[in-house]
Amino acid sequence: MEKQRAPRNRTLTCSSEEIECLSQGLAKLDKPTAPGDLEAKIINQDIFEAARYLPKAFADLIILDPPYNLFKNFHGHVFKGKEKDEYAEYFGMILDAVLPTLKPEGTVYVCSDWKTSMRIAPILEDRLCVRNRITWEREKGRGAKTNWKNNTEDIWFCTKSHGDDYVFNVNAVKLKRKVIAPYRDTEGKPKDWDEGEDGNYRLTHPSNIWTDITIPFWSMPENTDHPTQKPEKLIAKLVLASSHAGGFVFDPFIGSGTTAVVCKKLGRRFVGVEQNTEYCCWVMKRLGMTDQDPSIQGYADGVFWERNSLADQKSEATKAAPLPAHVSTPEIETVNGHSEPPAVAPRRRGRPRLVKSQPADANLSLL
Ligand SMILES: C[S@@+](CC[C@H](N)C(=O)[O-])C[C@H]1O[C@@H](n2cnc3c(N)ncnc32)[C@H](O)[C@@H]1O
Repeated sequence: MEKQRAPRNRTLTCSSEEIECLSQGLAKLDKPTAPGDLEAKIINQDIFEAARYLPKAFADLIILDPPYNLFKNFHGHVFKGKEKDEYAEYFGMILDAVLPTLKPEGTVYVCSDWKTSMRIAPILEDRLCVRNRITWEREKGRGAKTNWKNNTEDIWFCTKSHGDDYVFNVNAVKLKRKVIAPYRDTEGKPKDWDEGEDGNYRLTHPSNIWTDITIPFWSMPENTDHPTQKPEKLIAKLVLASSHAGGFVFDPFIGSGTTAVVCKKLGRRFVGVEQNTEYCCWVMKRLGMTDQDPSIQGYADGVFWERNSLADQKSEATKAAPLPAHVSTPEIETVNGHSEPPAVAPRRRGRPRLVKSQPADANLSLL
């Protein structure tokens, strides 16, 4: 039976007709492939089976978001928490399957929760160069009576190489922050910040604590019913930092398709694997929608904006492309009390359209 949803609920779903139609476009591997065979493919298969047919060393970046070591029902595919050693063995098998696909200068990001991190960190250290652990403050977690609320996730930043021959585009992932202490130099000029009509900002270097990203929420167009969907803004940071335009990104557990959608929006090649056919269809539908809306919420004009910056994003975009008098202001989405829809630009017809965000890296070509 179909779920009843609030009128402003924008969660993406697929009807049974859509599933029938979209599933025709999914791939399944049964013989060795070349990188060109995989471009923009969503492979509906068990990763351990699909990996046997993947080419070696094709991926510039792997985004690895496997089931964490806890009970999770992925719409019928139930993952049960395992004993410590058993999970470690399972994670080792995942690395065995996917790491051969990584280029020698490639990067892997691995998502986990704090408990899973204790199991996987030593395994990652044995096989890769672990360069950092990003802590993402998710802004949503279940309150606990006898413990601290679990409100964070880890993202391990690893490279195959132990040298400096890996990609890190720091300028592509800067954060635009309001200046709290507007220091000036001896001539009275702003020190490391910009003075504007709409406020004072500083472009800050990205740190390993991410507090500017909410999980996808029912009022956001990117939201699906996937139980562990990653936000586009989060994946956009990983993709922009660790791949060049045109680079090949591989997501072995693609779920609702966030990596694929972000790669399409940011001009990267991609391939994803997912065991659940309905999830794969959500990916296909989301990919189709990027033609109408290539924006990434919270990322505009080549910078990532902090939470609660909607008004500032709007006014900057309005300065760049003034709205005609007949165009009304956009709907404001409130996410856990934070509002951060992307900037607006005039739309050809109907409501104002989301502005196409311009990544900071050169030669962007939208696929
Ligand atoms: C943590 S979720 C990934 C969520 C994803 N990053 C997103 O943004 O939607 C893990 C996904 O892996 C899928 N999965 C689990 N085991 C799998 C396997 N052996 N082969 C392929 N997919 C698998 C699950 O169905 C689930 O969608």
